[in-house]
Amino acid sequence: MKKSLFICGMMASAIFLYNCSGSKKATASKPVPYNYEANVKSVVEANCAPCHIPAKGGNKRAYDNFANVKSDIDEIIRRIELNPGERGFMPFKKTARLGDSTIAVFKKWKADGLGEK
Ligand code: HEC
Repeated sequence: MKKSLFICGMMASAIFLYNCSGSKKATASKPVPYNYEANVKSVVEANCAPCHIPAKGGNKRAYDNFANVKSDIDEIIRRIELNPGERGFMPFKKTARLGDSTIAVFKKWKADGLGEK
């Protein structure tokens, strides 16, 4: 009687452990690539408006759409990685660079293939 309880307990924990490690592996092996709609759009809106949003800005390049942000991605990354005060630094006239994690969003999006959604 005691022995069968012990075996039951072992089986229950084996199943438990198996399921736990199994689900961890599933999430780790399926990274979701960054895309414009989910990852980039909100970052541009938060940091590059109003200057690059035509409704409010002047004649700067409009970055309220996927096509322009995609085609200018190299220039965008180059400029946001400059230091404040350097010629071409963006966001224009700000005294600090965007945070590293924000800059990383643009770089990861490029590395992931510049998808729209
Ligand atoms: C306060 C206004 C302002 C903000 C905010 C701003 N920019 Fe600009 N941006 C400008 C101006 C003015 C120019 C044109 C002068 C120049 O080329 O340096 C420009 C030019 C650019 C250009 C070259 C293409 C063009 O439009 O002539 C890129 C690329 C750029 N900005 C990227 C960005 C990115 C990315 C952000 C957000 C992280 C940003 N900018 C935020 C004002 C701004």
